[in-house]
Amino acid sequence: MDKFVNYNYYLNKSYPVREDPVRPLNRFIFSCLTMRNLLVNIDHVATLRNARGETVPDPVKAAIVAEKAGAAGIVFHLREDRRHIRDEDVFRLRKVVRGLFDFEMAPTDEMIEICTGIKADLVTLVPESREELTTEGGLDMRKVKDDFRQRVFPPLKQAGIAISLFVGPSDEDIAISAELEAEAVELHTGSYANAATEQVRKNELKRLRDAAVQAHELGLRVNAGHGLNFDNIQPFLDHVPHLADISIGHALIADAVFNGLENTVRRMADIIKAND
Ligand code: PXP
Repeated sequence: MDKFVNYNYYLNKSYPVREDPVRPLNRFIFSCLTMRNLLVNIDHVATLRNARGETVPDPVKAAIVAEKAGAAGIVFHLREDRRHIRDEDVFRLRKVVRGLFDFEMAPTDEMIEICTGIKADLVTLVPESREELTTEGGLDMRKVKDDFRQRVFPPLKQAGIAISLFVGPSDEDIAISAELEAEAVELHTGSYANAATEQVRKNELKRLRDAAVQAHELGLRVNAGHGLNFDNIQPFLDHVPHLADISIGHALIADAVFNGLENTVRRMADIIKAND
């Protein structure tokens, strides 16, 4: 597979739907200059909103803030049970996201229809189960290979959507991803992020490193995500080569609570004091 063609194909996915005439050029230059991009997952802003049945905090507003702050794109996971992001969020996001629009989803017919209808730039396919708190594992490529080839890939490819497969750092899963001609794999970093000991953490970093090298050699773009945070990101970046889009959600929203809370409480306290 020609890596350069593959790379350009991926970059150009959102080109036709952008209305700002300057943006595609910016986007092209930006993408060529930067290998590693942060994609912000905004699911947990929606989790918070849904907890009270309110309209705030709005995940779409979070997407705008994230891009303004340097995110190269936005990720959201429209789950079958709609526990956080909802269909109308997806349509509103499509209108405002200026960078990469990464639609994370289970490979169901319903999701394929929504994703192709909205023309995501990138689809990240993940396994999904109703009982899980978050995406627990990567895809078992041996199990899904035939179904992906026959049912899942054709409509996504036909709609011009680049495909990324969420897989663990396993050589078999990566080899099958390349065989299916996915554009990218997203390496599951959960085992690294949740490692209980230093030794396990080192082993996991090595597995991720080997997986990234293999994926790159097979012409796949190397994305990564799950459980990355301010404590574990640096060793990850130091050890794993060829990284492109790095998706982070929970840790950013968690950190933002404390970065913003002081200002927010002060603002309300000042209003109340001023009316003493
Ligand atoms: N990538 C994938 C495929 C995911 O399922 C998730 C979790 O929604 C993430 C990245 C982001 O993980 P986290 O919220 O732990 O940063």
